[in-house]
Amino acid sequence: MSLASEADDTKPSCVKKRNLSAVGVSSLADWEDHLAPASSHVVTGDARATGLPNNSVDLIVTSPPYWQKRDYGHEDQIGLEPTPQAYVESMMECLDEWKRVLRPTGSVFLNVGDTYYNRSLMGIPGLLEFGAVQRGWLIRNRIIWTKDGGMPEPAKNRLANRHEYIIHLAMKPSYYYDLVGYSEYMGNGANPGDVWKINPERNMGAHLAPFPQELVRRAVKLGCPEQVCSTCNKPRSRVFERTDQLDPTRPQARRAMELAKEHGLTPEHIRAIQATGVSDVGKATKFQNGTGRNSADVQRLAAEAKAVLGGYFREFTFAKKVTTGWTDCGHGTPARGVVLDPFVGTGTTLKAAVALGRDAIGVDLVPLMHEAEVPAKPENPKRASAKRSAR
Ligand SMILES: C[S@@+](CC[C@H](N)C(=O)[O-])C[C@H]1O[C@@H](n2cnc3c(N)ncnc32)[C@H](O)[C@@H]1O
Repeated sequence: MSLASEADDTKPSCVKKRNLSAVGVSSLADWEDHLAPASSHVVTGDARATGLPNNSVDLIVTSPPYWQKRDYGHEDQIGLEPTPQAYVESMMECLDEWKRVLRPTGSVFLNVGDTYYNRSLMGIPGLLEFGAVQRGWLIRNRIIWTKDGGMPEPAKNRLANRHEYIIHLAMKPSYYYDLVGYSEYMGNGANPGDVWKINPERNMGAHLAPFPQELVRRAVKLGCPEQVCSTCNKPRSRVFERTDQLDPTRPQARRAMELAKEHGLTPEHIRAIQATGVSDVGKATKFQNGTGRNSADVQRLAAEAKAVLGGYFREFTFAKKVTTGWTDCGHGTPARGVVLDPFVGTGTTLKAAVALGRDAIGVDLVPLMHEAEVPAKPENPKRASAKRSAR
């Protein structure tokens, strides 16, 4: 699925909203020939005032300085504000700017961690989420990024921290989202879930703020279209069909297929299961009454299938999907999807995005600096009031 909508996820909005005679479906290869190779560039600047044009970016993937962790040695740096609230205010200014540069279908994957102060976690990720919601952003996921190892921690009366967050924020419910492509990439089910286990890559020193390329790849696969129309700014979205094929490696799926065969369920039964879209047909009838989406026939077929399949009914809502093409707005002005990292640092986001065929832009007060040169603890005398307890 692409342009996400929880109400009707069967058609991308490009197709739904435009005159159908003006849009169509074609392959990515049709546009690819007209595109320059993917490229990246870096701008020296502030994440709160990037100078980039309005509506020019499809996805932001970034890791800002965490509160009170490092001194990057620049007077405009974010991260050394005296209080969590002041830090959140700085980040809200970033979100305002990012809203301006993002296309309406854009979204943000924001990697953040928490900080101990006076022996307590400050709840920074929650404060950021709360501030963002107050400003009209939608928090679509709070992804837990876990790692096997990490820095040894001196505390004896609490557990070592082994996770961070990746907050996925969107401006509108119709943001671009390719769960089908992401699921194919991950290869572990129709919706691989909101816990990402990604270990730091080899080239990251143990004491550095890790931001592996794999993290960026997942965000890009989910949230950045491969191609967009530079006339109407619409992302090209995957068009797919559901099949009745289940994953034969799962015992539950094998049993569901056996039962369906044994009781002679037809392709119409399977489509009816998929049309109801939830695991319990009783609930489906209740949810969708009055919407006009599921006719009495569909509900009857789904009920018949439920009677035969029992608890295995839901298996068919996870059936494999096949891509049949990509939306084509018909303007013929192709461009690559664009990823921005407004705290680009050493450029991890740019490398991963370009390797996936997206154009990429990085912004940083001190671009492409080597993190190894950054002192691990803040030592800015102007910020003396921000002394903290690391335990
Ligand atoms: C955690 S690092 C990002 C590391 C990056 N993900 C990487 O893989 O190299 C944070 C970066 O934010 C930059 N920075 C701090 N304050 C900034 C600001 N106000 N605007 C833009 N960049 C800023 C720092 O110079 C640093 O490079």
